[in-house]
Amino acid sequence: MKYMKRETIASIYADPKPASVTIAGWVRSIRDSGEFAFVTVNDGSCFGDLQVVLQKSDVSNYSEITSQNVGAALSVSGSVVLTPERQQPFELHAHEVCVLGESDPSYPIQKKGLSREFLRTQQHLRSRTNLFRAVFRIRSVAAFAIHEFFQERGFIYVTTPIITTSDAEGAGEMFRVTTLDVDSPPRDGSGNVDNAQDFFKTPAYLTVSGQLQAENFALSFGDVYTFGPTFRAENSNTRRHAAEFWMIEPEMAFCNLSQDMDVAEAMLKYVIQAVLTMCPDELAFCNKWVDKGLLARLQHVVDSDFARITYTEAVSILDAAEKNGTSFEYPVSWGMDLQTEHERYLTETHFKRPVFVTDYPKEIKAFYMRLNEDGKTVAACDCLVPGIGEIIGGSQREERLEELEARMEALGLNPESYKYYLDLRRYGGCEHAGFGLGFERLVMYVTGVENIRDVLPHPRTVGSADF
Ligand code: 4AD
Ligand code: MG
Repeated sequence: MKYMKRETIASIYADPKPASVTIAGWVRSIRDSGEFAFVTVNDGSCFGDLQVVLQKSDVSNYSEITSQNVGAALSVSGSVVLTPERQQPFELHAHEVCVLGESDPSYPIQKKGLSREFLRTQQHLRSRTNLFRAVFRIRSVAAFAIHEFFQERGFIYVTTPIITTSDAEGAGEMFRVTTLDVDSPPRDGSGNVDNAQDFFKTPAYLTVSGQLQAENFALSFGDVYTFGPTFRAENSNTRRHAAEFWMIEPEMAFCNLSQDMDVAEAMLKYVIQAVLTMCPDELAFCNKWVDKGLLARLQHVVDSDFARITYTEAVSILDAAEKNGTSFEYPVSWGMDLQTEHERYLTETHFKRPVFVTDYPKEIKAFYMRLNEDGKTVAACDCLVPGIGEIIGGSQREERLEELEARMEALGLNPESYKYYLDLRRYGGCEHAGFGLGFERLVMYVTGVENIRDVLPHPRTVGSADF
């Protein structure tokens, strides 16, 4: 077949009616009973498969087709026949089938129910399985819904640099970017590596967050957001940490912490509602095979108000839980960073819905967060959700130059690296706030998938950057 105008399987599902069509896709199964065969094909355009019915008497190459292996690419021309009495609403009665690409019998994902660990070694093929077809379509729909949410509200989309010379979080978890010969770098007179000879004439890194540059734009456009890749050389080998992940970071001028949380809550609800509307088949699959409570939970989140408590209140709740017999690996005391077990207790056991924890001790939060009146806590907010813990981290920013300088000095940050950030406080600096939503954590949340490695198309984690 030289020229092929193909219909997608999605378009047939959208409007099933008797018609002549040509489709192309990959074989999921073949059942041959001698005189006729059933071939299940998926073309990726939707979650559902297409059942092709093949009569030996109708096609010239029956044995060529029935001897194909799972994974082969085929085109099929035939008639759509409605089958309202059966499980699938229609089937395709084939007149002509062409083998477009054979599949070797070694095809690694023949069987159903392969483990996710095994499928992580097959990232080039795992998106042909039901689970990953569902996850990655939901990922795509969620990304679009995020843009839609902000665009509908007049936010400007700003892309921020991936290569940077400043540490936006001040946590020192950055990957170095260099063109120096790492085996024998040039040295200066005192024997230190001569960074002046590096590509940018100074040490450069992959960004951990676009926030600082988003702030520049917020203080000229008002409401902005970024949506891009971020990188963390965090040695955390957990199911929710990746070295490369995507983050959505809105930043809003003339906005305080409470308004910031209003936007975060509305955004999460909007995205979940969009996925509920756009991906019913995918969610039904996840609800059946991944997490039986998923659909009920998502609907509950859309319908409920998120709880809001201060860090100090959170510590009291956790303290009381310990006194009533809950045992945490890390005992709770004011001043400590909340661990995943604490976050999950708050959102899963205590509140049973998403919760914002605000006003953390300044020692455990980033330098740019606004110092509260008490001099001890900062105007931070983390949004915690059941099953995951922290999904969003945000804050009102320190807009007062002296306070910011004092904080940076206390933390030993070099003001030279943050010169423009300080400038922003000199020229019309104003109340402003923003947050970062970890996109993969959101996809985990809306699919019920427990491991971040299974919601990234090609995950990069400690010790692993294959594919
Ligand atoms: O809490 P974080 O570190 O906040 C920031 O980066 C701020 N600059 C955001 C802002 O206010 N504009 O990260 C924000 C979110 C976390 O809540 C989490 O969902 C996600 O990013 N995240 C990660 N996701 C996957 N892997 C990692 N290693 C992550 N680190 C953070
Ligand atoms: Mg955080």
